[in-house]
Amino acid sequence: MTEAAPRSGPSSSRVQISRRSNVAPFMALDVLANARRREAQGQDIIHLEIGEPGSPPPRAVREAAMAALDGRRIGYTEALGRPSLRERIARHYRDAYGLAVAPEHIVVTNGSSGGFLLAFLSLFDAGARVAIAAPGYPAYRNILEALGIETVTIEVSEATRFVVTPSMIEAVHAKTRLDGILLMSPANPSGTMMSAEALRDVCAACERLGVAFISDEVYHGLTYGQPARTALEFSSEVIVANSFSKYFCMTGWRIGWLVLPGHMVRTVERLQQNLAVSVGLLSQIGAEAVFDAQEDLQRVLSGYARNRAILLNELPDMGLGGFHPVDGAFYIYVDVSRLTDDSGHFCAKMLDEIGVAATPGLDFDRTRGRGAVRFSFAGPEGDIVEAMRRLKSWLR
Ligand SMILES: Cc1ncc(COP(=O)(O)O)c(C=O)c1O
Repeated sequence: MTEAAPRSGPSSSRVQISRRSNVAPFMALDVLANARRREAQGQDIIHLEIGEPGSPPPRAVREAAMAALDGRRIGYTEALGRPSLRERIARHYRDAYGLAVAPEHIVVTNGSSGGFLLAFLSLFDAGARVAIAAPGYPAYRNILEALGIETVTIEVSEATRFVVTPSMIEAVHAKTRLDGILLMSPANPSGTMMSAEALRDVCAACERLGVAFISDEVYHGLTYGQPARTALEFSSEVIVANSFSKYFCMTGWRIGWLVLPGHMVRTVERLQQNLAVSVGLLSQIGAEAVFDAQEDLQRVLSGYARNRAILLNELPDMGLGGFHPVDGAFYIYVDVSRLTDDSGHFCAKMLDEIGVAATPGLDFDRTRGRGAVRFSFAGPEGDIVEAMRRLKSWLR
């Protein structure tokens, strides 16, 4: 057997790494890797760092995938996704929102992450300017930067209940033209949701200004009061990204979807053909089955609601009562500025000393995130209770 040549270190290699790949790490995943290393060494860790349902997908998903595996060829599918799944997603819009969406406008993607790549490539050239909110999902900026697209940060605050308003968009656009804006509701890391009126006004402002609006709706289904509204109700020009990862508990299946204006579909199809060929067939089969498992999914949601209630009750008692309104998703974004101005160090110390893994706010907001921490409450209730017990005695 021939031995592989010794791998040379980065400094001795003459092969250059591209400048555009020099994006920031996704800290939540770095914290997860560190926590898993510690677990492998025997430390007892509670995972509140990662935005991933603790529950497996409903049984119907596993059964459908297993039946498909039995003797069937697992091949490529249509680049836009299997027609039956695109139709099933369209039916979901009718059932959940009372909205008619044509299956031809739906594209099945490799998670919403794969959807963002397709949407950004089809909408923006290198050098375009796209606005995102802070705090916000870190991968937005990192994917856009890798594509040579400039990001413009709009800081949200209590003054607008932590959502971006049309006047904020207009002010930024007046200074330097925006090509797009990417917003989510319910939001990560805050859980804060836009009202129907706010979403409608943002849609109208984007149409008026000629700014592409991408609405990230991956946390739909996970709400604790009013249900979330889709931007598709208010605009025929919006691009919606959604996912089977969160409400549907299918993170590792890597499947999501886009809803596109008709004129974008063929462009996205050509990109998907070349970038991914298609989404995994087993995942598409599983995804089609998950819509009929609403009872299981609602049970999981009740678990999150219990976890949320524990956190809302316990955190203020520890002096950690400053957090954004948790309307949806499964995160709580807590102000820890009283305790630290270095959330990275704070989280590392918390992991080291009490085995509670959480994500530094710096992942979500490069300035104000120094004084914030995100806890995910998507795991088992027992973990949330134990994490609060540990945190309480640590902070005493
Ligand atoms: C707001 C938001 N959008 C998109 C994603 C990506 O999810 P996926 O690619 O699994 O659909 C995440 C994951 O945490 C997220 O929080």
